[in-house]
Amino acid sequence: MYRYIGNKTKLLPVLLDVFSEEAPRNATVVDLMAGTGSVSVALRKQGYRVIASDMMTYSKHHLVTQLLLDAPPSFQKIKNHLNIVNNQLSGYEATLEYLNSLTEKESYFFNEFSPDGTPSNGSPSRKYFTSQNAKKIDAIREQINAWIENDLITSEEESVLKHTLIMAVNDVANISGTYGYFLSKFNAKSLEAIVLKPIQFISEGTIENTVIQDFAENIAATITADVCYIDPPYTKRQYAANYHILETIARGDFPKTIGKSGLRDWWDQHSKFCTKTKIRESFSKVITEMDCDKFIISYSEDGLLSLDELINLFSSFGDVTYRTIEYSRFRSNNSSLSKKLNEYIIILTKIKSVG
Ligand SMILES: C[S@@+](CC[C@H](N)C(=O)[O-])C[C@H]1O[C@@H](n2cnc3c(N)ncnc32)[C@H](O)[C@@H]1O
Repeated sequence: MYRYIGNKTKLLPVLLDVFSEEAPRNATVVDLMAGTGSVSVALRKQGYRVIASDMMTYSKHHLVTQLLLDAPPSFQKIKNHLNIVNNQLSGYEATLEYLNSLTEKESYFFNEFSPDGTPSNGSPSRKYFTSQNAKKIDAIREQINAWIENDLITSEEESVLKHTLIMAVNDVANISGTYGYFLSKFNAKSLEAIVLKPIQFISEGTIENTVIQDFAENIAATITADVCYIDPPYTKRQYAANYHILETIARGDFPKTIGKSGLRDWWDQHSKFCTKTKIRESFSKVITEMDCDKFIISYSEDGLLSLDELINLFSSFGDVTYRTIEYSRFRSNNSSLSKKLNEYIIILTKIKSVG
């Protein structure tokens, strides 16, 4: 499973239950902050038409791969370019095999994120990846960039390759959960060699879906849907900071790094949902502007707003009901936090004249 703050994989059975009560199977649903795409994919499989969006570039690649395709793209130009004649392998598999066999390269990831590198801002070297893996990532990243520049891959093929690379990078990253910082000692997983593995394409449901990369507040007015699912960040932790390395892979760029942890400048992707003073305004804008009468909102007991505050806010737009789901919380050994954590699913039926 993709380790992503707020990933809803575990909550899917309850969520799908709520969706099936609120919308017929062929309805159009929006997953407005789709992250890894886990909810969007489940909705697609259930027969819904999905409009999925997120502000992060890595999320766009996950969503394109999982919502707009039902089989690997052909990679025909790459096959021609590399003169691949192995008929046993699909174009996708052959392309991955080629990328896996590239000679390592001492470039950006090696310098910024490996113990033998020399970070450009003078910080001590970092340990996000072994030097070997960082050099491999450099070679793969730069090859993908060259193919894009030479018009040898389509934008869907780019998304599939970057989705596949990110999944492989997640397997060997020397981190505890997020990319906010690296571990001081390499863990067992991070010592394994990075390998691009073909992903399983989804065949169920429609590919007549839509993927958008933007802020929810910017696109709400452009969307018409039967149901809108909102799964916002619920703490101050910004996704752009915590997943900066995935964003750099997704963009294929070479940003200046900041501080000891080597973050990219992420201010252009900071979320107002992570700020107590702005969150109400953002929720209100989305709910008011979207042409949609039903909103399903996930939120955690640990969040910036309490359940009462949320109900208060949403009640000004219409009728509100909610469900509470009890979770076992992951705790470090001597944590003082309680063992159980409540997750809320709030259902708002908008009354058009209100709000
Ligand atoms: C809790 S996560 C969603 C997790 C997702 N449901 C999953 O299962 O992977 C919140 C997501 O909201 C996105 N986000 C935060 N603020 C946003 C905004 N203002 N507009 C669009 N996306 C935003 C983050 O990038 C992050 O992917």
